[in-house]
Amino acid sequence: MKILAIETSCDETAVAILDINGPRENPEIKILGNTLLSQMHLHEKYGGVYPTLAKREHIKNLPILLEQVIHESRIVNPKSEIDMIAVTSGPGLEPALWTGITFAEELGGKWQKPVVPVNHMAGHVWSVLFEGGALELPVLALLVSGGHTELVYIKDFGKYEILGQTRDDAVGEAFDKVARMLGLPYPGGPAISALAEIERNKLQTTNYKLPRPMIHSGDLDFSYSGLKTAVLYKLKENPDIDKEEMARAFEDAAVEVLVEKTRKALEERPRIKTLIVGGGVSANTHLKRELEKMVKDFPEINLRLPSRLLSTDNALMVGLAAYIDVKTNPEILKNNTPIQACGNVKLGYAR
Ligand code: KG4
Ligand code: ZN
Repeated sequence: MKILAIETSCDETAVAILDINGPRENPEIKILGNTLLSQMHLHEKYGGVYPTLAKREHIKNLPILLEQVIHESRIVNPKSEIDMIAVTSGPGLEPALWTGITFAEELGGKWQKPVVPVNHMAGHVWSVLFEGGALELPVLALLVSGGHTELVYIKDFGKYEILGQTRDDAVGEAFDKVARMLGLPYPGGPAISALAEIERNKLQTTNYKLPRPMIHSGDLDFSYSGLKTAVLYKLKENPDIDKEEMARAFEDAAVEVLVEKTRKALEERPRIKTLIVGGGVSANTHLKRELEKMVKDFPEINLRLPSRLLSTDNALMVGLAAYIDVKTNPEILKNNTPIQACGNVKLGYAR
């Protein structure tokens, strides 16, 4: 099945064409074309994504990327060759989401093809399937991005149960905010991670003691706003703080909570076969290392991480999530109700 996929939920405009066939657990995926334009540098001065600016850029970029991706895929007649169009409908920034939806619906009308709405977080979950290898369910997914920090139990395709989530800031947001406090560039995750690794290689223990919020809360929820504030106080006490040491102390604290809550979820749901990590923060070296150590205590669990390029936002994951949704419930291809953008839609829902 040939799918044209569109992603505009945040500050990345992305369009891809994929040919996917076979079972959902181990699909055969051919990437025919993959394009992405990041607006990161434009949002840098705001220290985060500025929605109106993102919307304007998506509108400008989408037709350019469509032309590019069709050229790259060597598809001569997309109207007859593409089987369906997939578009992210949420969660994300609503003005940004609408640009992708409007573009997809117009194209769907022109090509007479079904347009399938996709939940962005489902895209982050299933990204690991690009690596190949059959997936065993049930799955526990740790989703860590700029807008989300959640633990999701997936008993079967389409059956998502959120076990815990952040009560305030997302972990990626905390990385971005702490980076800004330390005068590091946006997005802050890679910048903090690079400094923290330098400090770790010095093999010293850190002098900065930071809290591990909610680590003993007894549930699977998270909170990252207090950790960010703790860094702010340390910086006020000592403006000449060692940035590498602080980056490491912050990353140690942020990651320890993620790993311990994931461990607790695995203990609580003993039949889990696969641990999936998804979202931008899954690119974090320290998190990957600590999760690899932790799963050694669960020999029956297979840890699956996306490749670095698929950990942050892209259109490939949107196409794959649409394929899985359609295989799970083919009826969605017949749903003609206009797609709505929904900024805070939960996993398991796309419309
Ligand atoms: O999934 P994503 O691309 O966009 C959202 O859906 O939010 O995630 C972006 C987030 C940003 O907060 C960014 O700082 C973080 O992922 N990130 C990282 C790393 N690479 C990206 N955080 C920690 N370490 C990294 N290496
Ligand atoms: Zn994302």
